[in-house]
This record gives sequence, C-alpha cells and structure tokens, in this order.
Amino acid sequence: MCGIVGYIGENQAAPILLEGLRKLEYRGYDSAGVAILGGQGPGAAIARCEGKLENLRERLAREPIQGTTGIGHTRWATHGRPTESNAHPHRQGKVSVVHNGIIENHMTLRRGLQDQGCVFDSETDTEIFAHLVDRQMATAANLREAVTAALRQVEGTWAICVLHDDTPGEIVVAAQNAPLLLGVGEGEMFIGSDVVAMLEHTRTVVDLEDGDLAHVTAHGYSMFDVKGEPVERPSREIDWSPVAAEKQGYKHFMLKEIHEQPRVLSDAMSGRFTVVVPDVILDDVELDVSKFDRIIILACGTSWHAALCGKYLIESVARIPVEVDLASEFRYRDPIVSERDLAIVISQSGETADTLAALREAKRRGASTMAICNVVGSTIARAADQVLYTHAGPEVSVASTKAFTSQLVVMSLVAIKLGQLTGKLDDDAQRSMLESLSALPEAMNRLLGQLASIRTVARRYAHARDFLFLGRGLGFPVALEGALKLKEISYIHAEGYASGEMKHGPIALVDDNVPIVVIALRGPGYEKVVSNLEEVRARGGKIIALATVGDSAIADIAQDVVLVPDVHELFQPIVASIPLQLFAYHVADLKGTDVDQPRNLAKSVTVE
Ligand code: AGP
Repeated sequence: MCGIVGYIGENQAAPILLEGLRKLEYRGYDSAGVAILGGQGPGAAIARCEGKLENLRERLAREPIQGTTGIGHTRWATHGRPTESNAHPHRQGKVSVVHNGIIENHMTLRRGLQDQGCVFDSETDTEIFAHLVDRQMATAANLREAVTAALRQVEGTWAICVLHDDTPGEIVVAAQNAPLLLGVGEGEMFIGSDVVAMLEHTRTVVDLEDGDLAHVTAHGYSMFDVKGEPVERPSREIDWSPVAAEKQGYKHFMLKEIHEQPRVLSDAMSGRFTVVVPDVILDDVELDVSKFDRIIILACGTSWHAALCGKYLIESVARIPVEVDLASEFRYRDPIVSERDLAIVISQSGETADTLAALREAKRRGASTMAICNVVGSTIARAADQVLYTHAGPEVSVASTKAFTSQLVVMSLVAIKLGQLTGKLDDDAQRSMLESLSALPEAMNRLLGQLASIRTVARRYAHARDFLFLGRGLGFPVALEGALKLKEISYIHAEGYASGEMKHGPIALVDDNVPIVVIALRGPGYEKVVSNLEEVRARGGKIIALATVGDSAIADIAQDVVLVPDVHELFQPIVASIPLQLFAYHVADLKGTDVDQPRNLAKSVTVE
C-alpha cells in the first residue's frame, strides 16, 4: 500500500508534494520520489531516494527542483526490492508514472515488451505501465487516450498518476480497487491516495470510483468512467482533523487495520490462483516436494500462531509432516535438521531477531528455506532462499491483525499447492477449497458489519483480571492468538489452551471471576468442545462462545455468543480471528490503554 500525491497550480510543486508524502508515510516508507514539470529543464525532473522520506527531503534541499506540476510517491514495495532503481516515479521516454497497487499480469506484459525491444531499469510492475503509455503516445491523440489504451492491457489494482513532458499543464490519473482522490482548490488541484495528503490545502475532495480516469488541470478536472464516458462524481467536504485522517477516521490504527482485512485478503490472493482450472501460482517460489520429507515452521508471537495453523493445514491437505517451533527456542535446542527439511519462517516485519537467527540456524544445518513476510526486501526476506509476500501493506499498530490473516491466506495457498504437488488433492478438492478461499473477503466484510455488539460484550468483561481462551484443532491456535491480542493491548492476564487440556489442570482456575472465551465452530471436535463448555459451566465459568451462524444450541450454554460465517473448516481461523481482534480492541479502548503502542512492546522485536 503506497502513498501517492500530485499537484498542479501556480505554486512550486516540490514542497507541496513533500508535505503530502510526509502525511502518507504511514502507508509505506521504504523509498520515495517525485517527478516535476514546468521547471528549468525541457522534461520532468525526477528525484528518487531509497529509505525514509527524509532522504528525499535532503536531496531536494541540496538539488531543488522548480516547477508547478508534479507527482510523488512513498513506496510500500510489493514487487522489487526497496532500492532507488525500484522507487517511483518510473519513466519511459517522456512519460512519468507513480502507482499504488499490483499489476497481476506484469510478467506477461514485461516479456511481451521485452520481445519488442523494451529495456527495463527496475524489477517493478509499475515500470511496465510507463512503457505501455509511452508506446501508446505514438498513436493516441493525447495523454488521456494513451493512458486509457494502456489500462486496457493491464489486470490487477491501481491508483496511478501520469505526466508527459510535452504537456506540463495536465496530469492524468486513474483508479481500480485502490484509493485515489482529487482535492479541489482555487486555481490549483491536488491528488492523493488519502485525504490526509491534501487537508491543509482543501477540504473539498472527489473520490475516483473503480475504473474511473480523470484529466486534471490547474482549473479543474474531467472524469471518465470505465467505458471512457464522461461522468460526474460528487465532491464531499472533509471535517476530520489531519491526525484523524491518517487513520481515515478510525480512532486507532489497529481498528483501521482490522477493517482493512477484506481488501488485504484480496491482495494476498491476488493473481495467486485460478479456480475453473484449479491451480495455485505462488509467484516465483519453487516448491519441489521431491526435495524435502518434512517442513519446519519457525516464528514468534502472532506469526507463531499462524505457523501452528500452517501445520494443521499442510498436514491435513498435503500429508507432509510439519514441525512448528518457537524461533526463540529452536536455535538453542540443538535441533535435528537435514537437507531433506524445508524450513518456512513467518515474519510480518521480516526483522524479528529470533526468527532471523532460527532461519540462519536451519540453513546452517542444511535445510532449504522459504520466508513468508510482509515487508518486501526485509532482512529475513533476503536471508531466505525464497520468499512469499503477504501484501498486507504497512501494519502500524503493534498488535498484529491484518498481517496475521494474510499469513493464514498465504499458508492456505501453500498447503493447497503442496496438496496438488503430492497428489493428495484432486482437482475437485482443490477447486472447492479455492472457491471457499475466494469467498472469504466478502464473508469477512459481512462479518465486520455485524460485530457492533462486540463492544457491549467487551464492556461486560473489561473489569476481569484473568481470561481463558479455549479451542480445539484449528481453534487452538486461534485461542492462543485471541489471548495474545487481549493481553498485549489491555494488559489483562489471558491464557490460550487446547480445550481438551482443561481437565488436566487449568479447570482449577475456573470460577465466576474468570471469563472463558471458547472457539466452538462447526467441524470436527465441535461436540467435544461443547462438552468442555459444560464442564466449565458446571463450575460457574462465564462463557463467551464463538460459534458458527445457525448454531442455536450454543446459546443454552454460553452467556454471550458471537456468530461467524460458515466457511470451509480449514479457513475458519481467518474469520474467527476478527471478533477476537475486535474484542481485545474494545476491552483495551474501554480501559484506556495505549492501543496502538502498548507499554513495553515494539512493532518489530529486533533484539533476542
Ligand atoms: C503480535 O500482535 C505481536 N506484536 C508480536 O507477537 C509479533 O507477532 C511478533 O513479535 C512477531 O513479529 P513478526 O511477525 O514481525 O516477526
């Protein structure tokens, strides 16, 4: 998820673009750049820097760029490492482009353009678009038509701004499944991927809808729909404070990131499978099941919970033995590892010291390695033999939410791919799973719209000093994750347990002061979980049950029931996590703790 800005008017563009990018830095911060027209040179002047936005600011202070038309970009890398050559804007001929999104058919387009003699300077999907527009300019009547023709060749998601050296008085923008807005000023226009980038200049904004394209000048804009027909889009007045706007009106980044999950899941799946002819395409990762007999998954914290789910998924679907280890333990137990092992490490930040150390230890002992990371080009991503990215965008809140569910999606795709490769999954079974997976973002969207009552449940239990979270099968890692979410942001002691373990000790903890959250979803083990609930209720425990829509029996046992959609049992952790994330969030918010930056914690634990 990158940040995009644009300006066209009478003022110098550079300071306006920089300030707008600073406001968007939360959307991505591994490189940044600007392209500015109308200055001293004949064409656009470009400045791009790897790393934080400050590096670009310093560059422009040293080498100012004049001009009153410009576009800018702060990058969250999805394709191509976070280097200067991969930073936006990308140029080809007289065309400059900044882009947020994923061009799914980028490999096909790149090969086609290379066959026509195009030479690429970067690893990104965006540079391909600059080439497409440049080629269209040879025949198009104007930049708008060239961009329209180029967009017809791409598949995927985009928020895109395009400049052409010969027409400094215009910017062409377009959007498809990625946010892009126009800010309407007096004799000037602003462009941004988020209102926060333009709030200090104007509060009148116009949202581009999916498929829209706009031709922007200093005096206004013309909007065209996906068919290229002129269309009117309503403007709206923003009454948020700039700080609120960075969270898009949400009180905390955590709440915003919880609600981003439907789109994040779509991005995590984007271009990675086909259903009609069932197949999983894991980017450029090569999984050769003839080369390993066992998988070891290494991670910490929430990522370790995703690893536990990965074990259940891979063993269930592909019948390959999987061992899961806490990365912080693995290195110190003289583990038995061989070249017949595949070590998968999961890390949102890609910088967790324990996980990096475990990866290096597994590699040293002969295992082949694959990372599942969110941050492109992170240390773990670069240390592993191969890497799969979760495309969750920057996760600002310390408590991991969207990164977790995107890890589960990627683990599901890996499991299905392995099932295909080992022959354990026939086409029908693959198709059924992939259809269920593709329906998850919409199911999650509906669920998020039905959970307003979760704050009431949170208020009822926010005073508690201890919680137990119980689950069986895939519900067990979900219970662990729910407990971690609650404890790390509300500071309430919470433990996750396998529900079958209660009778082996933990049930001694149960009395009417200890709320018990139970994951009791339809599927194998449901009856056993219900009998565990009966044991707890018989001892006065107050039960909050997570149940499947349509389960009316559970209400006879539990004080509170939260219903989640009926999805394929292997994907239940993805939907079951949502109410637990919201429960933890509301308890913490009601307690007034620092939800996004809880005490004693850091977003990335780079020390052992
Ligand atoms: C999760 O909410 C916590 N912030 C923490 O457990 C985190 O998952 C853990 O530190 C691992 O981080 P990583 O995924 O970036 O490696």
